[in-house]
Parts: sequence; C-alpha cells; structure tokens
Amino acid sequence: MRSASIKDLLSGKDLLQEVTINGWVRTFRSNRFIALNDGSTLNNIQCVVDFEKIDEAVLKQINTGSALRISGTLVESQGRGQSVEIQVNNIYVHGNADPEVYPIQPKKHSLEFLREKAHLRARTNTFSAVMRVRSALAFAVHQYFRDNGFYYFHAPIITGSDAEGAGEMFRVTTLNEKNPPLTENGDVDHKEDFFGKETNLTVSGQLEAEAYAMALGKVYTFGPTFRAENSNTSRHLAEFWMIEPEMAFFDLNDNMDLAEDFIKSVISYILEHCQEDLQFLEKRLLDEEKTKPQAERSEMALIEKLKFISENNFKRVTYTEAIDILRNSKPNKKKKFKYPINEWGADLQSEHERYLVEKHFKCPVILFDYPAKIKAFYMRLNEDGKTVRAMDILFPGIGEIVGGSQREERLDVLKEKMAALDIPEEELWWYLDLRKFGTAVHSGFGLGFERLVLFATGMGNIRDVIPFPRTPQNAEF
Ligand code: 4AD
Ligand code: MG
Repeated sequence: MRSASIKDLLSGKDLLQEVTINGWVRTFRSNRFIALNDGSTLNNIQCVVDFEKIDEAVLKQINTGSALRISGTLVESQGRGQSVEIQVNNIYVHGNADPEVYPIQPKKHSLEFLREKAHLRARTNTFSAVMRVRSALAFAVHQYFRDNGFYYFHAPIITGSDAEGAGEMFRVTTLNEKNPPLTENGDVDHKEDFFGKETNLTVSGQLEAEAYAMALGKVYTFGPTFRAENSNTSRHLAEFWMIEPEMAFFDLNDNMDLAEDFIKSVISYILEHCQEDLQFLEKRLLDEEKTKPQAERSEMALIEKLKFISENNFKRVTYTEAIDILRNSKPNKKKKFKYPINEWGADLQSEHERYLVEKHFKCPVILFDYPAKIKAFYMRLNEDGKTVRAMDILFPGIGEIVGGSQREERLDVLKEKMAALDIPEEELWWYLDLRKFGTAVHSGFGLGFERLVLFATGMGNIRDVIPFPRTPQNAEF
C-alpha cells in the first residue's frame, strides 16, 4: 500500500499525475472539501470530491479524525490557500471517527485538555509541530557529536550505584511487595533480590560515561533518566532524556566551549530544517502571549530568539560575580525574591537564574566556579579550596539547561570529598579505580533534552514537549 507523502505532493512536482495518499481528516467542508494530513508536514492537502464518483455511503463515514486512502489527480488549485489539490477519483475508509465522541475537533483545545488525551494530541498542529522539531533536534544531537569525533555510548538504565546524589531514585526490585525476605535485623534483604543488591533507575549516565571517556576519548550518552523528586513544576519531569558528553583531556574552559558550540549547532540545524513548524509555533506563541500582561511577554519572537542564541556569545560569569550582581539587584533590595541573597554560598534558585539571564545580561549565561558545598562530590576542587570547577548554562525562560563540570581526577582529593559526604568507597570502587589507573584531566556536562525542546519550540510547559510525560501522580498511557 505504497503512497506518496503529502509533503512531497505539496512541492508540486507530481502535477497532473495520478497519486495515492493516506492520512487523517482534519476537516471536511460542504461534503466536498477534505483537508487531509499524514504527519509528513504541518500542511494539509485539499482533496476535492466529485459526487458522481464517490458513493454517498462512503461520504457518510468521513469525519474529522477518519483515516482515508485517497486516489486522484494532482492539479493546480482553483481555490485560495493552497497551490495544489487532489481531484478525487477514489476513497477507501480505513477507519472512521465518530464525531459524537472523537475529542480532537477542529477548534481550539486547551493544552491542559490535550494532556489528558496524550494518545491523540499529536493529531493537532501544535503537537505535531513540537514532535517534528523534537525529532529533528535529536537527529542534530547525534550529527553534532558524530561530526566532532564522539562515540555514542549507552549507559545502563538500571544502576547499582546510588551515590551520584543528582536526585531521588526509583527503586527496581522483583521482591514480593507483601512478603519480602527479611534480614535478621528485620530490614528487607536485598541479597535475595534479582540483582543480589539494591538497584535503581539511573539519574545520570555520567559516572559510567567517565569510564568510557577514559578509553575512547570522547563519548556521549543520550538516553532516559529518572528522578523521583516531587517537583511539580513546568520544568521538571520524573522521566526525561539527557545528553551527556564526557571528554578525556578537556578542562572546564574546553567543556564550556563545547557546550556552547553544541547548543548553537543544534539550534542552527532546526532553523535550517524546521522553518514551517517554527513559523507555526512562533505564531502560536504570539497568540498565547496576547493573553498575558505586557511585562510577561517576551521581547523577541521565537525565530528571532533562536537566531539570537545561535549567533551571539554566551556570557561567562563566575558564581562569585553573579552573587555580587544579585545581592545589589533591585528585586533583592526590594525583597522581591522569595529567597533573598545575603551571602556567598547561597544556592541559586530559578528566580535568581532568570533574573541574571532575562533582566541583567539579556543573553544565555554560563555560571562557573560554584561553592563546593552546593555541588556534587565529583567536581574538581579549585586551588582556593572552597570552589569547584562546575558550570551551569542558564537560558531565558528556562533557567538551568545544562549542568556540568571538570571532574576531580586526583585520587586523594576525591577520597577526601567522599569521606566528608559519607559516600562509602566500596560503592564506587570502580570509579576510584579510574583515578588509580591512567587518570587524567576530564570534563563533561548534561543537557536536559526536554528543556532544549521547550526552548526551541516556545512551549511553556515541559509536559507538552515529551510524548507521554511522567510527573508525580501521573503515568497514564
Ligand atoms: O544538573 P544535573 O542534575 O546534572 C547531572 O545529572 C550531571 N551528572 C550531568 C553531567 O555532568 N554529565 O542535570 C543536568 C540537566 C539539567 O541542567 C537540566 O537541564 C536537566 O538535566 N534536568 C531535568 N530535566 C527535566 N526534568 C528534571 N527533573 C530534570 N533534572 C535535571
Ligand atoms: Mg544541575
């Protein structure tokens, strides 16, 4: 049942040919004009029905949502709004959609409503555009790393180490819930569990990627990660996809250069390949913003913003400089921050990150050299003994999009830090081995893929840029 794609037909190259297409009805007007969409493009193709050729009984089954196979002649369109259309010779109804119950009707549905219909929402313009851009971004990620000498590395999803401390974990077990085996102390006996120890879903593939970077040189992971934190925000998912490059012989500056170049490259890719969808999403965002007060509207339209990112340098600022800026900022002095900034050492909240990016610098910011106390154990300690070679990239409208660092490659310093944080050496014996055998300067970062898609599409909620979002109290579908 080979058929043409609507994207190809709309380019007009098959004019006056007999063509066959498959797709879903978006609208059916005057019992004569079918707008058909097959997902290959945002645009529908208009199919014009000749009553003499098509049975009444067939026409009765055509509604918004019906799946059809249509054959006909591709001609120049007489009507306005499209350049070509199909004069229909034959229609086969794969499956109809009862208009009394089919929820995706040709009218405006709220994003909240569509979240409850996540299995059908890709049949709307907004979600199909978002998902095509998402797919293009994923491709651009692989292309970037391949072009730059990286190997794609698959980190394990089930992990036996829970020491990274990146977030709360989801336990993986096959023990009987109601009657688990117990130790003499009455604790659950994980020796009897499937893996003979406690295991969880991974929060990050970094530690394993480090092992492979120290052999293959430059590697990256791009896979699902899981965090059981109860953050019900528009920026957090319990299951999200993370891209984690890890590079031997890279210091923090090399790491920042790579992260910036990488983000610019994938944004340029969609500017080049997803114009139609981006134009649609830009218009969607403009319409949405009309309902908001002036002060909350963004200064740039979507495509302009993406171009701005791909063409301008990110601002690099130390944590210490950022704290000075925040301490002296208007909202801090006027007590407008929920978490006031008083002293060096304070962890930055998203309100602070967004102030720096949106109000102060008005461009993406890379903050680096954070206090050791608020960052993970594996980050390399600076000479001052109190800051680490960490970097976060902050984006307008998003806040943190990347978190990364130069890694502590010195065995003695790493052991001291683990001891201070009560991380048992037995748990990470293999990670310490990497510092015993051929250790070297190395660095990496993690980019939350959905935060990138959120930024690139101008959507407002992370639940709307992943096909089936997992959030607290929600794992439907
Ligand atoms: O800053 P994070 O926790 O860093 C790490 O996991 C490091 N191991 C990465 C590395 O150096 N290889 O997470 C990295 C990024 C964040 O900047 C954010 O974009 C995203 O992952 N992220 C989330 N995205 C969606 N939902 C969540 N709950 C997220 N938590 C983090
Ligand atoms: Mg982080």
